[in-house]
Amino acid sequence: DMYKHPSTLSSFAALKQYGNIMIPAESGELASGLSGEGRMAEPENIVAFLEADLESKLPLKGKKILVTAGPTYEAIDPVRFIGNHSSGKMGFDIANEAASLGAEVFLIAGPTHLKAKNSLIKVVDVISAQEMYDACHVYFNEVDAAIAAAAVADYRPKFVADQKIKKNTVEFSIELEKTKDILSSLGAIKKNQFLIGFALETENEIENAKLKIQKKNLDLIVLNSLQDKGAGFKKETNKVTFIDKNFEIEPMELKSKESVAADILNKVILHFSKS
Ligand code: CTP
Repeated sequence: DMYKHPSTLSSFAALKQYGNIMIPAESGELASGLSGEGRMAEPENIVAFLEADLESKLPLKGKKILVTAGPTYEAIDPVRFIGNHSSGKMGFDIANEAASLGAEVFLIAGPTHLKAKNSLIKVVDVISAQEMYDACHVYFNEVDAAIAAAAVADYRPKFVADQKIKKNTVEFSIELEKTKDILSSLGAIKKNQFLIGFALETENEIENAKLKIQKKNLDLIVLNSLQDKGAGFKKETNKVTFIDKNFEIEPMELKSKESVAADILNKVILHFSKS
């Protein structure tokens, strides 16, 4: 009687008109002893409703984002490889942040000890630069943005020994060949994807980063500075400068890698809000 009363119904209508969302009442036994529509929704249903509503309003809902993370390992023989000190943290933080903003994420990860934190993240584990290249090209066509945070090896051994190499010579050298530049290859085929790369420079930082934007056909580059204490490999913090394709330069403060990830995703959100 109360739920269907005209004054209740007109109040509901007024509340809806003000932009409120109604969580529907449930049916069943009522406090008045009658049975019908008007029971408070079960708490778990209220929570599920709120979750679904909040999720539908996330700024990256419906977007797909490719992220590369971690180092790559280039085999020398069955037990040795050429690698680097990348922990993968920056890339994983970007993937976690993108997923918490509602994006579906394809995280192409080189060898790391990290775990993705969100069921919206599909992790594709790879080892070598070639495997990372192949995995990126599987997903790139279907994504709206790609962020290349991996520290990909630039060279790999030209020949990989089938057996462990014995130490029977005084000197030993390994012939190396170039790996494919994954980011450049994505830049070369991109359609509408918003493409973000990283740059690690130790000299002429801004000029070199600008050259990378052009060479790799990027929309934005995140320049890592090794000049700043607290920035770079195996650190919890990072100090970056954003440079966009119009060469607008935005230096950021030293901050946690999670906050840098949030700044990067803000750039992605801003891009989608304009396009
Ligand atoms: N990158 C890539 N594939 C490679 C090498 C690099 O996708 N084979 C990506 C990185 O993930 C990063 C960007 O390219 O987003 C720039 O990497 P960086 O090491 O700064 O530059 P390089 O292109 O390797 O050039 P250089 O080492 O000569 O500075």
